[in-house]
Amino acid sequence: MYTILANDGIDASCKKILAGAGIEVIEKKIAQEILAVELKKFDGIIVRSATKVTGDIIKAASHLKFIARAGVGLDNIDTGAAKQAGITVINTPGASSHSVAELVFAHLFGLVRSLHDSNRQMPLEGEKNFAGLKKKYSGGTELKGKTLGIIGLGRIGQAVAKIALGIGMKVIAHDPFVTEAVVEIEISGVPHNVVIKINTVPMEEALKKSDFITLHIPGSKSPVITSKEIGMMKDGAGIVNAARGGVVSESDLLDAIRKGKIAYAGLDVFENEPAPSLNILMEPNLSLTPHIGAATAEAQERIGIELGEKIVAFLKK
Ligand code: MLT
Repeated sequence: MYTILANDGIDASCKKILAGAGIEVIEKKIAQEILAVELKKFDGIIVRSATKVTGDIIKAASHLKFIARAGVGLDNIDTGAAKQAGITVINTPGASSHSVAELVFAHLFGLVRSLHDSNRQMPLEGEKNFAGLKKKYSGGTELKGKTLGIIGLGRIGQAVAKIALGIGMKVIAHDPFVTEAVVEIEISGVPHNVVIKINTVPMEEALKKSDFITLHIPGSKSPVITSKEIGMMKDGAGIVNAARGGVVSESDLLDAIRKGKIAYAGLDVFENEPAPSLNILMEPNLSLTPHIGAATAEAQERIGIELGEKIVAFLKK
């Protein structure tokens, strides 16, 4: 019988599939410092983003059959070291796309109506200064008819495109690896999906023509959006980053917001996670969430099912 450690927790759907295949899952949090030693008792490990499966841990636990990431990004796993040790890495690339896409729109809808700031001010001033706040937040705009620039037209980028098109936004996309994507929009109660082809454009064109930019690319060593790229954007544009911290330069973003070049931004990910900078946290023109893009009940269930099935298939090979 195989025994697996779920070090960052795992959805019940995954546990059920593994238990059904006779695989034991121990759900407990083992501290990073003693993980290498403790892993000797397990055949595999499941992590979310909190546990770092470093090269040293992998070296010390080279007996592991697999390392499973309940999610998309593999930046907390030393995949090179895993490959060298002959350990299979399993993840769930598609399961959370819609959940991330909805969060992008939660930020966008909130930003254009100043919900991020209104929610901060109403508890403080709403009782005594209702009329003042009404005036302050009355200059909102609509997303319909605006252009959304999607940087990265993979699974999540396409899920974002579907919602954007569904609410009447224009979509423009850039992706160095994708020239076109065909998205199918399901409309509840309508038997046929609406099929739309999106051709990608150069980055500069996407930046210049968009009212909002949203990023759906893997983490990178240096930021993809800096002052240079922001300089190409429309005055008063918005940015959403629910991809990885550091993909947008936080200092350049703050500078652009303070100069009024960028009107506002939504951030779900941060350069210094899990301790984002206070400058970012205190900026009133930012809509902030603590890396919850994939954290819906539905996405976690989909992740659990996909991961459970992949682990069972792998161990039965
Ligand atoms: C992912 O890569 O799956 C998401 O960013 C979720 C996460 O890391 O918590």
